[in-house]
Amino acid sequence: MTNTTTESQPAAHRLWGGRFAAGPAAAFDAVNRSIGVDFRLWPFDIEVSRAWATALYHADVLTLAECEGIERGLDAVGARLHAGEQPIPSDEDVHTLIDRLLHEQIGELASKLHTGRSRNDQVATTTRMWAMDAAVRLEAAIRELQHVMIDQAHGLETALMPSYTHMQRAIPVSAAHWLLSHFWPLERDRTRLRAARHASAALPLGAAAAAGCAFPIPRVLLQGSLGFSSVTQNSIDGVADRDFAAELLFAAAMIGTHLSRLSEDLIIYGSSEFGFVRFGDSYTSGSSMMPQKRNPDALELARGSAARMLGNLTSLLATLKGLPTSYNKDLQDDKRVLFDAADTLLLVLPAVAGALAECSFETSRMTQALTGGMMATDLADYLVRKGVSFREAHSTVGQLVRQAEEAGIELSDLPGSVLVAAHSAFGPDIVDVFSARRSVEQREVDGGTGPAAVRSQLEAAQNVLAGRL
Ligand code: ARG
Repeated sequence: MTNTTTESQPAAHRLWGGRFAAGPAAAFDAVNRSIGVDFRLWPFDIEVSRAWATALYHADVLTLAECEGIERGLDAVGARLHAGEQPIPSDEDVHTLIDRLLHEQIGELASKLHTGRSRNDQVATTTRMWAMDAAVRLEAAIRELQHVMIDQAHGLETALMPSYTHMQRAIPVSAAHWLLSHFWPLERDRTRLRAARHASAALPLGAAAAAGCAFPIPRVLLQGSLGFSSVTQNSIDGVADRDFAAELLFAAAMIGTHLSRLSEDLIIYGSSEFGFVRFGDSYTSGSSMMPQKRNPDALELARGSAARMLGNLTSLLATLKGLPTSYNKDLQDDKRVLFDAADTLLLVLPAVAGALAECSFETSRMTQALTGGMMATDLADYLVRKGVSFREAHSTVGQLVRQAEEAGIELSDLPGSVLVAAHSAFGPDIVDVFSARRSVEQREVDGGTGPAAVRSQLEAAQNVLAGRL
């Protein structure tokens, strides 16, 4: 016999095993063990077990004294874990670990706690509790970044810069307007996180392995004491449902995507070619070879981590799509991707917030990038205001752009005579059209880049953060 078939931990504390003549192979133990991932669920698992002891008392499975004994035991286990007690190699998962420690604390009475429940409904419950907590922590981290955006946007209200489409200069905008274009996606992310939290708030406990608990435990009481807002309606679905996890991972993938796009803008604008942004000292690094370098590593890492968020979502959806009904062990890996997504975002969000907070904006470089050609649309709009159709105006201005390009000058530098020759509707007031500030001032539509519109956008952003909207 090779050691792959020998029993790996003869003395291991297990929640199962009676029907097995031989112990599990070491290689099976290794692949089956999830304690390395799920250990962090211990505070939730203890809370669930305490509530379960009370439910068993209500169902007349435990006497009051037994229930209290188990509760005291769980408190002691919690205190040991809180003090830093670590799992031993033979602990299969967090539920086994807590069961082992509870046996150490209160002896055989601990064996009554697992009555009427399965790790299937237990892990679904603790994972949902973790997810509700994670959604709240992520939302708070997003808010911090949104606050930084608003602070920076205040300083940029009157600064003008090009907007870009296809990465080509388009139309002048307020720099605050550009920055706030990254605020609203994060606001939608907060809404998605709240929805994911809500999806997590249905209690599976009581579903047992798949068919429901055989003892009359009060599920509504469990729901209330564990902070859930409803109970699952079907025990088979209850142990299998990971929609909440997929929803949280989708929210995480969107947050990652939004952080990546913000980072990308800042990285490009921070290049010497643009020079709109100067990075600070605390979130950048130098090069080991090139002494002049200041690299925006935090932003690059944020951009890179978005790929993992996407991978985490894809991984869970791929796991779920082929599963037969009810609990299957494949589901054990839901936690790996959930924890990675939350851990990564909780590192990246403060880093992006910090990097953005210490960016300074070179408004003179932004102004230099505003060329006369960017007012071509304003020139066409000028003709429209004189009664010309937009199609005709567009074609006239297009020809002028070509003429300027051929002459190697800016559209705004074409002599008035050339403009009048192109269309008789051009008058002497045309010079005003080539002001970027005037171009911006024209765009006072709600959500536009006009000064009053940007002011009310900033107020709206502040109001949503203050919970007033
Ligand atoms: N560690 C397992 C998980 O995370 C707990 C559930 C195990 N259920 C079972 N029937 N073996 O999914």
